[in-house]
Amino acid sequence: MIQIAVLGYGTVGSGVVEVINTNHASINKKAGDEINIKYVLDLRDFPGDPVEEVLVHDFETIINDPEVQIIVEVMGGLEPAYTFTKRALEAGKCVCTSNKELVARHGTELLEIAKSKDINYLFEASCGGGIPIIRPLNSSLTADEIDEVTGILNGTTNYILSKMASDGSDFADVLKEAQRLGYAERNPEADVEGYDACRKIAILSSLAYGNHVNYEDVYTEGITKITAEDIKYATVMGTSIKLLATSRKVGDGFYAMVSPVMIDQNNPLFSVNGVFNAIFIHGNVLGDAMFYGSGAGKLPTASAVVADVVDCAKHLHRNIMMNWSSKKLELMKIDDVKSRFFVRLGGSLSERLEEVEALFGKVNVVTVPSLKDEFAFITEEIAEHEYKEKAEKLDGILSMIRARF
Ligand code: HSE
Repeated sequence: MIQIAVLGYGTVGSGVVEVINTNHASINKKAGDEINIKYVLDLRDFPGDPVEEVLVHDFETIINDPEVQIIVEVMGGLEPAYTFTKRALEAGKCVCTSNKELVARHGTELLEIAKSKDINYLFEASCGGGIPIIRPLNSSLTADEIDEVTGILNGTTNYILSKMASDGSDFADVLKEAQRLGYAERNPEADVEGYDACRKIAILSSLAYGNHVNYEDVYTEGITKITAEDIKYATVMGTSIKLLATSRKVGDGFYAMVSPVMIDQNNPLFSVNGVFNAIFIHGNVLGDAMFYGSGAGKLPTASAVVADVVDCAKHLHRNIMMNWSSKKLELMKIDDVKSRFFVRLGGSLSERLEEVEALFGKVNVVTVPSLKDEFAFITEEIAEHEYKEKAEKLDGILSMIRARF
């Protein structure tokens, strides 16, 4: 029997207990041994819940029990999750987690401790919820040199943008509705400002390219400035606006970026709507691959965590090598990254087109009949610094969204 402990009985923690109870027999068969939850750690009591039988309030009970071989950390946040995880790994206990903040911030160090102890620190659920992506990057795609990872990695913002597009509503109204329905957190900053997607693309990029990508180096913009008017243009053009988290190899360098991007129907991420997530990968021999599914939520996330528990059970005293070295991947300056730019401009098209073309050269022009006294144009591919220099000379820019088509 393999004894495990679950740290945190919140949404994901209770999901882990539910998944293990629901699929007990098949999980044990796949793990090759019986997985038993010996402890659940939480500061709260849960009167009437069967978890009371295994509930403890003190981490020392778990860390000092030599029978516990695998710890599931689903507390979220940096502390005490970091201290508990480090102590668990140093004590020779495997750790499985959904904690993206912790993996992005301390993943390199925790992976090194796991390696030195010949055990495992696994984090499939940290990116894309229930979508298998960490394991594919670490095993199925090892024949490739990956040169692009682009994902819709945040369900909350994808829900908001999809709803804005389908209902024509404003960001603030859809956010309120998403909070009412429980899709968005009461403090939605990490989601809507892009910080959550930023941590996830840093984790995926570290694994894809083999060197540590510091999430603080990833250029990040959220969706708070996207308006119902921007969406109207996107709809007229048959495009959609998505919060894309991207990292790409360009020449000998790499860049990483989170920002709203206008994409067209040829992009495989175009039809990823609502709370779903998807990750597009390009490898030099594989070509394109895409992973799609439930990117958040209690049971999908718990499914990925429990799959990691099974993997730990199968490799109890053997480290599964991860392609994530502590060497830092230096990212290109965002100013040198090239994009097309969709720009909305106040004023009349006939009066201002000459001015626009004098700065940007030939552009594609778009108008929306219901939006008077403004128009939009899309530039050819230019570097960010070039866009900024030219945009400074243009009065009346209403909005700018990067375009990929
Ligand atoms: N807040 C995250 C999201 C949860 O909306 O995708 C999953 O990491």
